[in-house]
Amino acid sequence: MHRRTFLGVVSACSLAACSGRDSNKPSGPIAAGSLRNVAVGHFAFVPGQPLVLARDERGLYAMTTICTHDDCDIQGSGRIDGAGLSCDCHGSQFDRNGAVRRGPAGAALEHYRVDLAADGTLTIQASAVVGPDARTLVPT
Ligand code: FES
Repeated sequence: MHRRTFLGVVSACSLAACSGRDSNKPSGPIAAGSLRNVAVGHFAFVPGQPLVLARDERGLYAMTTICTHDDCDIQGSGRIDGAGLSCDCHGSQFDRNGAVRRGPAGAALEHYRVDLAADGTLTIQASAVVGPDARTLVPT
């Protein structure tokens, strides 16, 4: 590739497609509100944090919004769609459990433990990676 052409490609990526790049992965305990606001079917960004908090029939779960393709934060450079998450940087899509629906991403989104306190307060332990099937049970 000619040197001028190569530099042009890099520049376009840094100004547009890669503008949402964020290598700041979540870590530590992160307050995530109250169970009262997280009904079955909930699937929403955690404001100000690169995380999704969700609840399905099996319980509560949380996962990163840092795309596994090239580290864009989907919360800033993507969206929640009907089936999960879409990354606008290069078009990757993930289902509601973080599995890849469409590349170029080749790996699923990382999940973290969710703690439920007796008073209903939720905390995402973003340094405690768990498997994609892990759920925090909600007492009935
Ligand atoms: S960073 Fe490339 S598709 Fe998300």
